[in-house]
Amino acid sequence: MGSVNAAEVRDLVKKYGDFKALDGISFDIKKGEIFAFLGPNGAGKTTTVKVLTGLLKPSSGHVNILGMDIVKDIDLIKEKIGFVPDQPYVYPYLTAFEYMRTVGDIYKVPSGRQKKMIDELLEMFEIGDRAGEIIDSFSHGMKQKLVISGVLLHKPEIMFLDEPLVGLDPKSARIVKDLFVKLSKQGTTIFMCTHVLEIAQKLADRICIVNDGKILELDTFENLRKKDGSGSDLESIYLRLTGAVNGAVLPEDI
Ligand SMILES: Nc1ncnc2c1ncn2[C@@H]1O[C@H](COP(=O)(O)OP(=O)(O)O)[C@@H](O)[C@H]1O
Ligand SMILES: [Mg+2]
Repeated sequence: MGSVNAAEVRDLVKKYGDFKALDGISFDIKKGEIFAFLGPNGAGKTTTVKVLTGLLKPSSGHVNILGMDIVKDIDLIKEKIGFVPDQPYVYPYLTAFEYMRTVGDIYKVPSGRQKKMIDELLEMFEIGDRAGEIIDSFSHGMKQKLVISGVLLHKPEIMFLDEPLVGLDPKSARIVKDLFVKLSKQGTTIFMCTHVLEIAQKLADRICIVNDGKILELDTFENLRKKDGSGSDLESIYLRLTGAVNGAVLPEDI
């Protein structure tokens, strides 16, 4: 297992009952890269993220995160990674500030850094003036920004994000994009599931396209474009690869 890789996934299968949601996928994520994971609804993206963050056990195959085994070394791995799920599950009756302190304490973030960073992060996302309110009163986008702030507080080596831009206003989405670029320059690895193809095209070092639990392509945008031979944008390439290029047949009586 080489040290340049943040993650190594080999022949990963994940079954729900008899159904194979992941049908033997293998890929590496390099340290410090922005890795975009794309695919239609039901392709297996969330399942992959959940296995890579230890929330689900592989049915077979191997997952190695930062040189450690996801099944055996899960407690050590959890200290070094951050996860922003597609649904921001946050304790509804904590205030935003209490949530951040709780995250900081769980990850043993020194209190000096907590004091400074909590204010800065919440200010950055324009929820600083709501820090004393309970999370239950927050919109989806505000919860999302709080969860992202919590992950940034403990500076993980790898950030896994499942559709992080859903529900974010344009200004917040821009902040998240800028953060990804800054973090990856500092060596943080970013694994992101997204449907926002423009962001994948602009930001990602490599793009992985999955469908039906299998990898269709994994390459840089430039190489995907060369293989496609069309000079197209990622949207056209993605639609061709996933077989959706002609669009759906719309009901006649609509
Ligand atoms: N808990 C579950 N039980 C049964 N099937 C599931 C479960 N979670 C996901 N699936 C199925 O696995 C497939 C992949 O789902 P998912 O990983 O959520 O896809 P994506 O995130 O790409 O939309 C889908 O067919 C979905 O219905
Ligand atoms: Mg999903």
